[in-house]
Amino acid sequence: MAAPAQQFKVADINLAAFGRREIDLAEQEMPGLMATRAKYAQDQPLKGARIAGCLHMTIQTAVLIETLAALGAEITWSSCNIFSTQDHAAAAIAAAGIPVFAWKGETEEEYNWCLEQQLNAFPSGKKLNLILDDGGDLTALVHTKYPEQLEGCYGVSEETTTGVHHLYKMLKNAGKANGLLVPAINVNDAVTKSKFDNLYGCRESLLDGIKRATDVMIAGKISVVAGFGDVGKGCAEALRSFGSRVLVTEIDPINALQAAMAGYEVVTMEEAAPRAQIFVTTTGCRDIIVGKHFEVMREDAVVCNIGHFDIEIDVAWLKANAKEVVSIKPQVDRFTMSNGRHIILLAEGRLVNLGCATGHSSFVMSCSFTNQVLAQIMLYTAGNKEFSKKYIEFARAAEADEVTEGPVLKKKEADVKTSVDRLPVGVYVIPKILDEQVALLHCEHVNVHLTKMTDVQAEYMGLPIEGPFKSEMYRY
Ligand SMILES: NC(=O)c1ccc[n+]([C@@H]2O[C@H](COP(=O)([O-])OP(=O)(O)OC[C@H]3O[C@@H](n4cnc5c(N)ncnc54)[C@H](O)[C@@H]3O)[C@@H](O)[C@H]2O)c1
Repeated sequence: MAAPAQQFKVADINLAAFGRREIDLAEQEMPGLMATRAKYAQDQPLKGARIAGCLHMTIQTAVLIETLAALGAEITWSSCNIFSTQDHAAAAIAAAGIPVFAWKGETEEEYNWCLEQQLNAFPSGKKLNLILDDGGDLTALVHTKYPEQLEGCYGVSEETTTGVHHLYKMLKNAGKANGLLVPAINVNDAVTKSKFDNLYGCRESLLDGIKRATDVMIAGKISVVAGFGDVGKGCAEALRSFGSRVLVTEIDPINALQAAMAGYEVVTMEEAAPRAQIFVTTTGCRDIIVGKHFEVMREDAVVCNIGHFDIEIDVAWLKANAKEVVSIKPQVDRFTMSNGRHIILLAEGRLVNLGCATGHSSFVMSCSFTNQVLAQIMLYTAGNKEFSKKYIEFARAAEADEVTEGPVLKKKEADVKTSVDRLPVGVYVIPKILDEQVALLHCEHVNVHLTKMTDVQAEYMGLPIEGPFKSEMYRY
């Protein structure tokens, strides 16, 4: 076993053995990540990489971290949410020699402290040259406060919808104040990420969070899901499958129509507030549930958020206007309103599946994190002809990149100094060939028997037998 990290801060290092047992279990359910580890390990494609990662410090993330390490990277880690760390996972990672700064129940100040610490904690004493982010807090910190760290940086890979929104905003400002200074990979919009983690992940972990927090019966109740994107679709399906009558709110007529066609009643939050008993926000937007909604809610309405940031529910209003609040247990607060009714708020309005449960299952996180590993390799080996000659999928990924249109956004190199040979500043999606590879690595585990085209069929369709099988425009 490796020596413990020189620098780290976790809740209790004695939890390391428990964490290790659960990591061993998770590895069995993360076939894509383990296959990626085995496939590239001998070439050490991340040797010399120094990755600062900021992503929920869970057991599944521990398997991601150890995969990056197995491919040669030096790593420091923090969690991207104050409630999402699993303390035994953080302890196991610290015990394995990786500087990690994360514990469940950080204050805002401690959260920021953790991000700052990791920047100066690489065992080599050097600064980062890659960022792996979830939500964009670390990317923003380095861009605004430590831009000199980006000089030799190969880029950022971003995990979630909200973080990706920020990257596209920063790309618009490239070359100006608050502009993007390094290339970035939008991992979220890999099909094997957003159409799996956001959808099927939340379909299981939303109710895990609500149940662990409240034990409330879902069947028969009226619930409302705000937002019918990938996360909202998964949440609505989960609630309905438990027997809840589900209302949906949407701003986008396409998503609203999808919800209606799936059989949900589409209403405004004003209409839903006095009717629903369970409220779930999934929009990535702000001010979805505010004072006027709380005032008309039914007795003991359960209110929670599964979107990335805690701005969907106006918790400040609730705190300021409630007569009393009783903490039932950590992350479960029961507010008494001036009208005498109660509201049960979960995880203080932060991600309920990570605050009140343990996030998504390992298998679906394996899909997301395999994309993360490939994204880090893509950024770090950009222009490495030897590597792409040996691993043809990366050569084809680079080719695809040049011809791809659609969701890929590229900009000319911004006026920044860089000492590394890297992709031009831009926001890139994972090329289809790698996206399909991620799916393929997970098929066997769920008993998929894939059909292979004949040569005649392939010629008729105009497709290579090994893929890619779809155009970038295909929506799945
Ligand atoms: N908790 C988790 O495990 C987890 C996993 C993946 C993503 N996320 C986060 O969840 C959020 C949603 O992600 P997504 O992939 O579903 O995004 P998405 O863009 O696919 O869906 C969001 C939907 O909300 C709708 N919307 C926006 N503003 C609204 C408003 N004011 N009222 C009603 N609807 C509104 C949008 O039209 C869109 O359809 C993001 O913040 C993302 O980062 C969380």
